[in-house]
Amino acid sequence: MTAKMEIPTVTTARLILRPLTEADTQTLHCILGERGVLRYFPHPDPPPRDKVRKFILGQLGHWEDHGYGWWAVQPRSTKELIGWSGLQFLPETAETEVGFLLSRRYWGKGLATEAARASLRYGFEELGLGSIVAIVHPENRASRRVIEKLGMSFVDQAQYFGMDCYRYSMGRSSFRTKAKTAEIAWPEGYAQKQDFLERGKGGRPY
Ligand SMILES: CC(C)(COP(=O)(O)OP(=O)(O)OC[C@H]1O[C@@H](n2cnc3c(N)ncnc32)[C@H](O)[C@@H]1OP(=O)(O)O)[C@@H](O)C(=O)NCCC(=O)NCCS
Repeated sequence: MTAKMEIPTVTTARLILRPLTEADTQTLHCILGERGVLRYFPHPDPPPRDKVRKFILGQLGHWEDHGYGWWAVQPRSTKELIGWSGLQFLPETAETEVGFLLSRRYWGKGLATEAARASLRYGFEELGLGSIVAIVHPENRASRRVIEKLGMSFVDQAQYFGMDCYRYSMGRSSFRTKAKTAEIAWPEGYAQKQDFLERGKGGRPY
């Protein structure tokens, strides 16, 4: 039997990013059925429950294949599943994208930005990725705002998932520079911040 990857759990000021499990199927099914959550996705109709279960299993396979994937996002205070965030491999372009989706009840509190920032940090610091993109429907203003708050730069308009999308990008050095100059606001109490900045001075082959 092949060894299963141990998917890491990451903690931010207000969130826990933990592995998705099959037990999340029902809650995620409900979230994806909320009005407007999939509005700007290539398939905006809420998926049936079994497709959600397969999606979760697919994500666990994605972690195995690439060393990253979507995490389940839950508040530290309530520990309920509220959405996903993380990194995803785009096979058509061999890019890595950062992404996020939350239950409507949690919109407008800065949580997607907080989860995505931790995802970027994981990609750049832990995985040593050179660049990460964000792909968004042009009319998805909330998502574009999150991407801008992350400090990512607009690159171009391109076809992804059969849709016209805006592509944004960020390189590792830009992430590190912005982290140092505090253009990226780290969540309060973010444990690894100082460690990251210290290690960046020489300990890592950036
Ligand atoms: C996109 C999404 C994850 C944002 O989550 P969130 O936790 O509300 O995001 P944040 O609170 O971190 O930031 C949202 C920002 O967008 C702004 N915003 C929200 N709606 C907006 C709109 N219609 N026009 C312009 N700005 C908008 C907010 O004011 C906030 O910016 P601010 O901090 O400068 O005030 C959430 O709306 C969602 O889950 N949408 C459905 C799934 C989705 O589209 N995912 C992205 C796929 S690319």
